[in-house]
Amino acid sequence: MIVEPKVRGFICTTAHPEGCAASVNHQIAYVKNQGTLEGPKNVLIIGASTGYGLATRIVSMAGCSANTLGVFYERESNGKKTATAGWYNTAAFEVAATDAGLYASSINGDAFSHEIKEQAIEKIKKEMGKIDLVVYSLAAPRRIDPDTGEKYGSVLKPIGQSYTNKSIDVMQGQITEATIEPATTEEIENTIKVMGGEDWELWIKKLLEADVLAEGVRTIAYSYIGPDITLAMYREGTIGKAKEHLEHTAKDLTALLKDLEGVAYVTVAKALVTQASAAIPIVPLYIGALYKVMKAKGTHEGCIEQIYRLFKDFLYADEVKTDEEGRIRTDDYEMEADVQHDAIALFDQVTTDTLQQVLDIQSYQDEFFKLFGFGFDEVDYEQDVEVKVDIPSIE
Ligand code: NAI
Repeated sequence: MIVEPKVRGFICTTAHPEGCAASVNHQIAYVKNQGTLEGPKNVLIIGASTGYGLATRIVSMAGCSANTLGVFYERESNGKKTATAGWYNTAAFEVAATDAGLYASSINGDAFSHEIKEQAIEKIKKEMGKIDLVVYSLAAPRRIDPDTGEKYGSVLKPIGQSYTNKSIDVMQGQITEATIEPATTEEIENTIKVMGGEDWELWIKKLLEADVLAEGVRTIAYSYIGPDITLAMYREGTIGKAKEHLEHTAKDLTALLKDLEGVAYVTVAKALVTQASAAIPIVPLYIGALYKVMKAKGTHEGCIEQIYRLFKDFLYADEVKTDEEGRIRTDDYEMEADVQHDAIALFDQVTTDTLQQVLDIQSYQDEFFKLFGFGFDEVDYEQDVEVKVDIPSIE
């Protein structure tokens, strides 16, 4: 099949197997070029197939020679439609890990369920030995409570009053205006249920009970704070409440892991183009401005650069630097005062007519398509390609 990008709303419904492999291989090459790292040896990554979770899996494998077990929720190809990008990413990742002589296995299913947790524990016991790093990197629109069967949806809404700001239709290349109505109490609670720390805690409790966590184990989850302009809709909105919950959970988990001398951290990461962030209104416009400023300053990072620095300068450095709330801050470059000042100035100034000059929206679009394997020089997109690709560890 010749695979072309098909965009619907903020998502691309096709993915290119060879392009996704190229994306994974570029990230592996970046890590190898940077050099090896002291770090974990046996890693469980929940949300391992795209974005920050995939980058964490790659840094663990290519930087630290770690064995990895990845959990994710992706769609495989039926031969007519392509698989999702995360499926192809994982297939390429496993091949590279195996070539490097490292164990890599994957579980495709709902990480919120008891069943998937049990499958992971069984694999860890049989095939891995004790886990020294658990990475929690889910970005999910809904969650089914594994005990009650009740369904919860997460929403991105302000609290108390509606919020209006400039936004962008990235694909049409147009500046628009977005108004988001305030959340109901139920929506706030449901968003916390999905994106807060409850499921992270369930994972850690189950892993602890099963005695599959190593002495000195670490666990991390990713959070975001962001600029003043998105405060009302993000950090002080429903998702922000969920992130606060996640951050409190880290403290509870550190207490829970005391006997193993384990620690849980939340890492506040940089805003990046991923499938999750592309779905948020207003934020992509801010990201466009941020990229432009950080690229000019030479401090721009993608997922892989962020996570490499997380491992090297924070999580596995001699001393783990945190802010006063105990959070690791790999968003440090993003939050520098001059970067914020300049990015907000661009955000305020840009119009549809000046999108290309002011924001370099082309590079945002390029990056978006790369998430789905489109736009890599080494791939011939005119060629037929086999879309049914196996992930070696999944039958
Ligand atoms: P992403 O959309 O690229 O990755 C999400 C991962 O979760 C994928 O592996 C997907 O398969 C998996 N997943 C979703 N639902 C699942 C389910 N029910 N069961 C199993 N796996 C499931 O998202 P991204 O952006 O990497 O986000 C990961 C975390 O990083 C989130 O907590 C997000 O809030 C946080 N973050 C993201 C930032 C950004 O700008 N993209 C900035 C700072 C933090």
